[in-house]
Amino acid sequence: MVNALVRTPRSLVALVPAALLTIALGGCSLKHPTPDLENGKKLFVRNGCWECHGYAGQGSRDGAKLAGEVLYEQAFLRYVRKPAGSMPAFVEKILPDSELRDIYAYVKSLPAKSLKDVPLLNQIKNAK
Ligand code: HEC
Repeated sequence: MVNALVRTPRSLVALVPAALLTIALGGCSLKHPTPDLENGKKLFVRNGCWECHGYAGQGSRDGAKLAGEVLYEQAFLRYVRKPAGSMPAFVEKILPDSELRDIYAYVKSLPAKSLKDVPLLNQIKNAK
């Protein structure tokens, strides 16, 4: 009986942070629904990001490399709205924040390719 009385408050104490965490995470996902990578990929194509940045975000003559570049989501959104250089701006009306977040998630998921990933170069290097 005494034991049960002692145990109850302890398990309650353990439950409180868990409950708070659930509320915090739940609140977060309400504000920012989980980004949709597949949708981001579609939007990356539909909005023509690929024309300058490449399908794999590898960059080109006309656009910066995006794959493997760590930009915070907020900075990414800000940049696309107000680019500093020759990139055209995408306004909220054309590309809403929710879609831009999906694009961000997609760009984030792209692997950073380097010269080490070029098979032929590796063959030559390993042949020595
Ligand atoms: C007409 C070519 C063009 C198109 C289309 C384009 N960009 Fe860009 N983007 C650029 C260029 C060029 C830069 C390099 C900086 C500059 O000149 O603005 C850049 C830079 C960026 C950067 C900053 C990269 C960094 O590391 O600072 C982000 C983020 C970006 N683009 C995202 C996008 C997204 C998302 C789209 C599609 C919605 C898009 N861009 C469409 C040309 C383009």
